[in-house]
Amino acid sequence: MDIIESIEKRKSIRAFKPDPVPQSILKELMEHALRAPSWGNTQPWDIIIAAGSKLEAIKQGFTEKAGQEVVADIARPQDFPEPYASRRRPPGAPPQAAPAGQQPPVRRPMNTRFYNAPCVIYICTGRTFYFQPKGINAWPVYDCGLISENIMLLAPAYGLGTAALAQAVTHPDVLRRVLEIPDSLLVVLGIAIGYPDWDDPATHRRSAREPMAQVVKWVGF
Ligand SMILES: Cc1cc2nc3c(=O)[nH]c(=O)nc-3n(C[C@H](O)[C@H](O)[C@H](O)COP(=O)(O)O)c2cc1C
Repeated sequence: MDIIESIEKRKSIRAFKPDPVPQSILKELMEHALRAPSWGNTQPWDIIIAAGSKLEAIKQGFTEKAGQEVVADIARPQDFPEPYASRRRPPGAPPQAAPAGQQPPVRRPMNTRFYNAPCVIYICTGRTFYFQPKGINAWPVYDCGLISENIMLLAPAYGLGTAALAQAVTHPDVLRRVLEIPDSLLVVLGIAIGYPDWDDPATHRRSAREPMAQVVKWVGF
């Protein structure tokens, strides 16, 4: 599968089959994903891949905390200024008009079982690399995004689907307890991964994008 096909096939999967993903496949995928670039080749990621009873314990812990205030290691947005707010659908508002063939974004409640994913890849980074004396160093989180995208673009080549889930890291205390993550690491993102349940309509939607003219400016051509 070439990169263009991977980019076009990738989308957030929010309904997984229960089938486990063989560790050998995940190891092969991760070998490729680890080729991601990073600032000065610092490779500022520590990755924990949870499945089976460990992931079940996390899902249980998150379910018990449903409705409680969410606290993430990496601060979540407190506000969505324009134009970003308009690209999301506010609670209760009718769907935005989307370009032909595309569907508007939808606000979803937290899903404490991560859409039944049989596996979640937790991307962590070093606390003292991120929180620096003169302020936040955003670059390790940026680099974590690069390896996350590698994982998500590689997945379709193995018949796998993914969903980047900020909601999967909203209770870092649960993750620290179950996965024995030290305080020296910040949990940045969880990526649900598994075999998509294509019979579930949730896997059929394709999200909209702004037209290129809205977000890309060409100069000097
Ligand atoms: C950093 C990050 C965090 C996200 N967190 C969530 C989340 O908590 N829950 C969710 O359903 N989707 C989450 N998403 C998925 C986005 O909603 C999705 O990427 C976006 O709507 C575009 O849709 P697509 O991935 O299908 O192209 C997240 C995506 C990113 C990149």
